[in-house]
Amino acid sequence: MADFPLIFERSVPNRRGCVPPVCDVPTKDVASLIGADNLRTEPAELPEVSELDVVRHFTNLSQRTYGIDNGFYPLGSCTMKYNPRVNEAAAANPAFASAHPFQPPKTVQGSLRVIHDLQTWMAEITGFDVATMQPPAGASGELLCLLMIRAYHLSRNDAQRTVILVPDSAHGTNPASAARAGCTVQSVKTNERGSTDLQDLKSHLGPHVAAMMLTNPNTIGLFEENILEICDLIHQAGAQVFCDGANMNALVGIARPGDMGFDCMHLNLHKTFSTPHGGGGPGCGCVAVKSHLEPFLPSPVIQKTGGEYVLDEDRPRSVGRVHTWYGNFLMNVRAWAYVRAYGAEGLSSIAKYAVLNANYVQARIRHEFPPAYDRVCMHECVLTASNQKKLGVRAFDISKRLIDYGFHPPTNYFPLIVPEALMIEPTESESKQTLDAFCDAMLKIAEEARTSPELLHSAPHNAPVGRLDEAWAAKNLDVRWKPSSKPQTVKA
Ligand SMILES: Cc1ncc(COP(=O)(O)O)c(C=O)c1O
Repeated sequence: MADFPLIFERSVPNRRGCVPPVCDVPTKDVASLIGADNLRTEPAELPEVSELDVVRHFTNLSQRTYGIDNGFYPLGSCTMKYNPRVNEAAAANPAFASAHPFQPPKTVQGSLRVIHDLQTWMAEITGFDVATMQPPAGASGELLCLLMIRAYHLSRNDAQRTVILVPDSAHGTNPASAARAGCTVQSVKTNERGSTDLQDLKSHLGPHVAAMMLTNPNTIGLFEENILEICDLIHQAGAQVFCDGANMNALVGIARPGDMGFDCMHLNLHKTFSTPHGGGGPGCGCVAVKSHLEPFLPSPVIQKTGGEYVLDEDRPRSVGRVHTWYGNFLMNVRAWAYVRAYGAEGLSSIAKYAVLNANYVQARIRHEFPPAYDRVCMHECVLTASNQKKLGVRAFDISKRLIDYGFHPPTNYFPLIVPEALMIEPTESESKQTLDAFCDAMLKIAEEARTSPELLHSAPHNAPVGRLDEAWAAKNLDVRWKPSSKPQTVKA
């Protein structure tokens, strides 16, 4: 790959992309408006480039990202499914995109209907009584549920319940949300089948427990076998059960967490309902609850009365907002288009294909990468590279080598309880041909681990950047150009 210069290095004094016409309206003295002290004494150091320079620069950069539109992206737990373009067309409709949150409800009945429809459908799909679309991400939905559970216990004068139980396989956002809600976390063990260890769970239950956070299917991609008994045990102990719904892609249209005994759950619209993933948002972490938690929902709740959509803001027991206005509304439009495009039957086929695809991958490569727990998996499989580790090759090396074969790596080293974890989530979007190409690459890499491990240790070989010190890159990220910087180039 050729190197290409930073945009600052393309800069030539006085080169311009466009020259605005001379101003033909009276101007004010800027110093009098903002104060002379605030005026620049030297011009800003901006690159001086032509329009073509700018277009080439950003086009080159855009071609160096890897997304679901480039190729297979089996990042487990993240559900990187295809985002149908029709959703984008709907979200770009100016009737939605140009609506302003200050508009009186009467003038945005269509937008409010979209939110109301989704609230209703999400509650129906998950088996709860009511839903809110306000949280902007999954983790925000988790936090909202825990705040509502705390408010529920407080409303019953049960203030001592401040402990949240979290499985040792849980996603990191679970304990983080519990801490953010002012609670303390206790970890519950996973048993030898990859499910919650009932004995360990029982040993934690007591009058201090506010709730358990449980992902189903869990983060090992396995259905929680004793879910009915678990919910019963927790309720008998006076606590609530929250469902982390990040894995709803395995259940949608087939089974409902509300019917399993959960009290509330979050959904990531960007996982199950195909809205795009953003780096930290803007997304939608819809929350659905049973009726006993309804009074604590954030306002406004969109209601339909007498054929009109209205905002119910009179919610004295609400825990308060988790986002301004109605959350990230255009995500709702995309999810609405997705649900309408598939319908009830189509949604259940999503779960069936997602589960089939994950089991296909697991079956094809398990002789080299055995499953962490030997069970039929749900929408993702968690395999281990422990065979390769004996040869001095780590899961990380395998993932880096996959980049050379043109695939995005799977999730590594999560869940934490699986040594050398490779968590593969193909999603329902992928064809058998793509799955086979991925499995062939994985099997080739297993062979390379035996015959030429150095190829894996030094991978990736063709990517714009090789191996970074990831801890250093995260903690000491330096992406600012300074005039004194030595000329740098980036590979194209
Ligand atoms: C199991 C699980 N729970 C919670 C989350 C948090 O969701 P979000 O990234 O939308 O905050 C994720 C995200 O990947 C997840 O995989």
